[in-house]
Amino acid sequence: MSVLRTKSVERSIADTEDGKQTLKRNLSALDLTVFGVGVVIGAGIFTLTGRAAAEVSGPAIVFSFVLAALCCALAALCYAEFASTVPVSGSAYTFSYASLGELLAWIIGWDLLLELMLGASVVAQGWSEYLVALLEQFGIIWPAATAPGGVIDLPAMLLIAVLTMLIIVGIKESLRVNLVLVALKLFIVLFVIIAGIFMIDTANYVPFIPAPQPIASESGLDAPLMQVVLGMEPSAYGVAGIFSGAALVFFAYIGFDVVATTAEEARRPQRDLPIGIIATLIICTVLYCAVALVITGMIRYDRINPEAALAQAFADKGQAWMAVVISAGAVAGLTTVVLTLLIGASRVVFAMSRDRLLPSTLSRVHHRFRTPWVISLVLGIVGMLIAGLTPIGRLEEMVNIGTLAAFIMVSIGVIVLRRQRPDLQRAFRVPFVPVLPILASLICLYLMINLSLLTWIRFGIWMVIGVALYFAYGFWFSKARSEEKEKLSMDRPPG
Ligand code: ALA
Repeated sequence: MSVLRTKSVERSIADTEDGKQTLKRNLSALDLTVFGVGVVIGAGIFTLTGRAAAEVSGPAIVFSFVLAALCCALAALCYAEFASTVPVSGSAYTFSYASLGELLAWIIGWDLLLELMLGASVVAQGWSEYLVALLEQFGIIWPAATAPGGVIDLPAMLLIAVLTMLIIVGIKESLRVNLVLVALKLFIVLFVIIAGIFMIDTANYVPFIPAPQPIASESGLDAPLMQVVLGMEPSAYGVAGIFSGAALVFFAYIGFDVVATTAEEARRPQRDLPIGIIATLIICTVLYCAVALVITGMIRYDRINPEAALAQAFADKGQAWMAVVISAGAVAGLTTVVLTLLIGASRVVFAMSRDRLLPSTLSRVHHRFRTPWVISLVLGIVGMLIAGLTPIGRLEEMVNIGTLAAFIMVSIGVIVLRRQRPDLQRAFRVPFVPVLPILASLICLYLMINLSLLTWIRFGIWMVIGVALYFAYGFWFSKARSEEKEKLSMDRPPG
């Protein structure tokens, strides 16, 4: 009996057909793409583009976006292969269980929980800031004590409460709301791009890659791990700036992997999941590059306001009213991000609990709505408490590190499963295995070491808690363990 026991792909698929814990198969490729775009385009495009262009990359931020997209695309191919082979809820967790063994699967599930729950709470707080700003533009002042930065962040808590109820009522219903909000968000992003194109001054693109400038190295815990361990000096702009920019804007792409968590609810997962994941990534990359070119074309990179780049760029051109449009876009946009991250989190815990690595009550499916309501409710309450009561605004880096770690596991998992189970039907295959998955892992690792020492320490603590929990519960109660024990006792000769 070991922590390396795996759960066969056949077994994973059979579990999805166990009546009491079966989700409704409802989603088409288009639904999945809308779902993907809904979760990916969010705080990143509205806030990070300007910050990265001003502080680290200059107009070459567009190359940073392409680079981050490339990293995500390589990981996306690996997700697509897994999703088409093991079309089961749980995303990277389920994939790791099929290839790398129970302990690593648990670790990745625990890590995904960090990405999705913390991500939902961080973005809910961002949403709350935009909502309060939007209301202010209409002359409505939200009471400071219950606004972001006050005693409790009430708007963020209300948002999570409403979205949790929506998720419990049904995924199709959630996605219908999602569709409307995604359409609004896309409309506003396109509007910004088209309005901005006419205000571009090409002189602002010179120099496109500004000359490198050493930046005062951050000390102590805030320094990137790379700098601490390898003694490298961080610099802004130049080619190195393109890479640091990519590590920063990576956050803007987070979420496409969440598409894979809904595998069990897709009508034709083998075909539609790869389409959904890859289409999401292509749409987002094109939009991000366009926004990056518009911002840096409208205003010289060294005059960009990192806190409100888009609004300021338009205000500079005498179009201050665009701030209202942008806040409205952000409110709509961030709602769908929180919604999708919450759905993703509940599906990962659902899968872990169905495997008995967590108590099975959590994976109870509602008799009428056919959604995992217990876990959705528990996560909703936890999310409300985190978003409402803790100052987590700057924990995006934790979300990044969690996601990058999952990408690495999935990339390695593809190579392992190809070796272990060459016989499996793979509707989608990553080309050039093992070269592409290895490249994906290396790029993810490079981005990870660009994150701060403090982030690594927090990540380490989270992981230690996770491993302790596994040995306290999952190891003993896992379904795979009981089956292993049963098999052993059957194989043992009588007497
Ligand atoms: N990609 C998501 C965002 O930018 C997390 O908000």
